[in-house]
Amino acid sequence: MAKRADDDSSTVEEARPPVIVWNKERERFETEDKEAFLQYHLRGVGLVVAAAADSCDDPEQEKREGAAVVMDMVHTYVPRSKRGMGLAALLCDAAFAHAQRHSMLVIPTCSYVSDTYLPRNPAWNSLVYNGEPKASM
Ligand code: COA
Repeated sequence: MAKRADDDSSTVEEARPPVIVWNKERERFETEDKEAFLQYHLRGVGLVVAAAADSCDDPEQEKREGAAVVMDMVHTYVPRSKRGMGLAALLCDAAFAHAQRHSMLVIPTCSYVSDTYLPRNPAWNSLVYNGEPKASM
């Protein structure tokens, strides 16, 4: 009887969707075992705009100084044995939701994000950085 109960609980455990964790220090969203991850780097695009304003002395451009931090999603990795099950999509879900919560735009440098995830989740296109700081930032 006891063995049967254990077996049941392990089945429930296996069916649990993977938990995605934010690793702030390593700039990653990753599975609990850290084997699958989405690597990002934060970039201050306001600094680029400020430098441009300095060089061209355009007051309109100066208004855009101090603009935004963008999340550059540089790499997604899932171990071979776990591919094709939507794990990379879960990592992206967590990363895009995080960017939205923190009012950050996103640069989809990783080809999985740009070529597969975004076309399948077009609602997130509104967060993609297109060279202009977001008006509300
Ligand atoms: N670029 C774009 N799309 C890719 C891709 C890539 N390099 N590699 C796989 N895909 C697509 C597959 O064609 C697949 O499409 P399908 O659903 O029509 O079969 C889809 O991603 C699978 O999606 P999902 O299950 O969410 O992804 P995954 O958990 O299998 O992980 C990767 C996808 C890319 C993270 C994984 O294959 C991997 O780690 N590859 C090696 C590292 C790499 O190339 N990373 C991407 C560039 S940074």
